[in-house]
Amino acid sequence: MRKVYLDHAATTPLHTEVFAAMKPYFTEHYGNPSSVYAIGREARKAVDEAREKVAAALGAEPQEIIFTSGATESNNLAIRGTARALQHKGKHIITCAVEHHAVLDTCLALQKEGFEVTVLPVDEYGLVSVKDLETALREQTILVTIMMANNEVGTVMPTAEIGRLCQERGIVFHTDAVQAIGKLPVDVNELHVDLLSLSAHKFYGPKGIGALYVRKGTRLSSYHFGGAQERKIRPGTENVPGIVGLGKAIELATSQMEEKNKRIKALRDKLKDGVLAIPHTRLNGHPERRLPGNLNVSILYVEGESLILSLDLKGIAVSSGSACTSGSLDPSHVLLAMGLDHQTAHGSLRFTLGDDNTEEEIDYVLEVLPEIVARLRSMSPVYEGNK
Ligand SMILES: Cc1ncc(COP(=O)(O)O)c(C=O)c1O
Repeated sequence: MRKVYLDHAATTPLHTEVFAAMKPYFTEHYGNPSSVYAIGREARKAVDEAREKVAAALGAEPQEIIFTSGATESNNLAIRGTARALQHKGKHIITCAVEHHAVLDTCLALQKEGFEVTVLPVDEYGLVSVKDLETALREQTILVTIMMANNEVGTVMPTAEIGRLCQERGIVFHTDAVQAIGKLPVDVNELHVDLLSLSAHKFYGPKGIGALYVRKGTRLSSYHFGGAQERKIRPGTENVPGIVGLGKAIELATSQMEEKNKRIKALRDKLKDGVLAIPHTRLNGHPERRLPGNLNVSILYVEGESLILSLDLKGIAVSSGSACTSGSLDPSHVLLAMGLDHQTAHGSLRFTLGDDNTEEEIDYVLEVLPEIVARLRSMSPVYEGNK
């Protein structure tokens, strides 16, 4: 059966060059980077080189990069670490309604511990307003955490403007840049960010490795204790093959980024035009300010889950706007925050294209999807054509 993978926002395949770079660090160069003899020094050198690559990709200094197990940990560390370090100054944190749960739930956990959290609304396109943020800022605000680009609808936030505002007010600004790496220019100085999270498997690197950028001078408390690794902020023996893989992946993802994204965007637009030609469909997210590979649509009178299963039978992998990862079929909090009703949110599909997708694959999706939608609608008691 054909296999068409269109869920690159969930994860990406490991790039062959990344795999090749990692391999020796499982078998040959297996030393502990903290050991002083040669094989340990080799591992240390590899970790140092990877740190330089990550820093270079972000316009940062190598000592500002902390390796973690992925963006979930980076987001937790950034938010909890700032809250703990700055609680003497104030206990107010600002985030927004369409953040990933790794940010939202961390903020809500802090709320239970006595912090005050403002969750900014978004507009119909999933955009946060800088004016709303400015109004929400208080004397006691210690942290603003707002993502660079949304993982579900692909909307790109006004990150540099938010960063500038926070910088003027002396407030720490964290951004979850997971979906932006390799798709948008990410320079920590141009964006005025103090903390930035990323995860390697979203840009053709390995799973279980990520990083947190921590601007020099930013106060951050650790909640892990043990060794002196990662400046004691994230102690524990380094995941050397993973770190090497992250370094290689970010280097590849940020090289020839514009050409790659131009090609992906053209395919995405073809898919968009074809899908929106199906009656009773709508685009979710911003028409222009969106990630090049993201297409999120609502297909009315069908359940997103039924669509996913039918597409899966045809070898096509996409995801829906239901929070199926949490084991519930509740509609996505992102789509609801954008004002979609439950039914429209339930019928949503997310296609996220990547480097290897071809025009032929898009043609195949556009061939099978209308048939699937027509079949599911023919069984729907709510579809107006059946009334
Ligand atoms: C925006 C965003 N933040 C955080 C994460 C969590 O990343 P990880 O699962 O690699 O920790 C994801 C993954 O889906 C994401 O899309």
